[in-house]
Amino acid sequence: MLRDALLWASTNPTLAHKLPRYRFVKRATKRFMPGEELGDALEEAEKLAALDIASAITQLGENLNSLNEADGVLDHYLGALQEIEGRGLDTEISVKPTQLGLDFGADEAGRRLAALCAATESLVWVDMEGSAYVDATLDIFRRVKEEHGNVGLCLQSYLYRTPDDLEALLDLEPAIRLVKGAYAEPASIAFPRKPDVDRSFVQLAHTLLRARSRGRVGRPVFGTHDPQMIGEANRIAHELGLDKGRYEFGMLFGIQSAEQRRLARAGHAVRVQVSYGSAWFPWYMRRLAERPANLWFVAKQLVG
Ligand code: FDA
Repeated sequence: MLRDALLWASTNPTLAHKLPRYRFVKRATKRFMPGEELGDALEEAEKLAALDIASAITQLGENLNSLNEADGVLDHYLGALQEIEGRGLDTEISVKPTQLGLDFGADEAGRRLAALCAATESLVWVDMEGSAYVDATLDIFRRVKEEHGNVGLCLQSYLYRTPDDLEALLDLEPAIRLVKGAYAEPASIAFPRKPDVDRSFVQLAHTLLRARSRGRVGRPVFGTHDPQMIGEANRIAHELGLDKGRYEFGMLFGIQSAEQRRLARAGHAVRVQVSYGSAWFPWYMRRLAERPANLWFVAKQLVG
């Protein structure tokens, strides 16, 4: 119930306008993002690098009102890529198709995604948003992948369709980041119960790792903080004879930080995604929905 309420709040424009004005809400976001500026995220990337943890950065923001805004996002990321190169960081970018203009057509988003891929040798990750965008996101991913090898895609285990989508993508030898999925989706298209989402995650992990062992997946990344999923991925990889360097774990800044360090110390490839930007409200609500106990942290900021 609380999860549903928080996911509803994540899409409510009035709340998105009003809540971020409260200082205690803003203070509470510190739990999940080091700051609103690119520089804040890159400073965190430097700290992570010192712990042998790679990073990915993402500027928060979702649906846009105009293509000028999409051009602004493109310019921002082009500048970020230069800054990353200048600092010599192993930091990738992760972008939302709607931020690149997907609501104005797949061509618009695809063109900007291609421009980002052309500007860097490192991988450009495409986030997966709500289910209404999956077909168009797969479409732009395929198109851009034909021209640029350095594009990766996020897939969500809660969607019934994902095993078929993954199977259809394997011919492209794609880099795939597997996650459970963070949006409010109806039971007609997504598993409503966590055990089913987890089971699907493990099955997809198996497909990805098997494909990796046959050279059909460029980079399998498991984007999860769930110790059980991490354990299963390691177990399957071990069974298939894949060593630690051939798959990765992705986690979010501020969540399970001790586990991030433990995995890195154990020789696993770990990449932490660091978010920044002023349009953090919907994203922040989704983080609260993933673990409603986080609301206590918000409440503490109110009194603290
Ligand atoms: P689960 O939610 O089952 O949590 C397992 C444990 O992890 C919890 O018991 C708790 O200890 C900890 N935990 C998880 N979330 C927490 C939180 N918010 N606060 C505190 N503790 C928490 N989704 C999507 O739809 N599209 C996308 O593109 C991406 N991209 C993405 C990239 C990366 C690198 C990650 C790690 C995640 C995403 N996600 C995403 C989000 C993803 O779909 C999912 O909502 C979250 O990762 C939470 O699911 P877990 O697998 O962590 O497990």
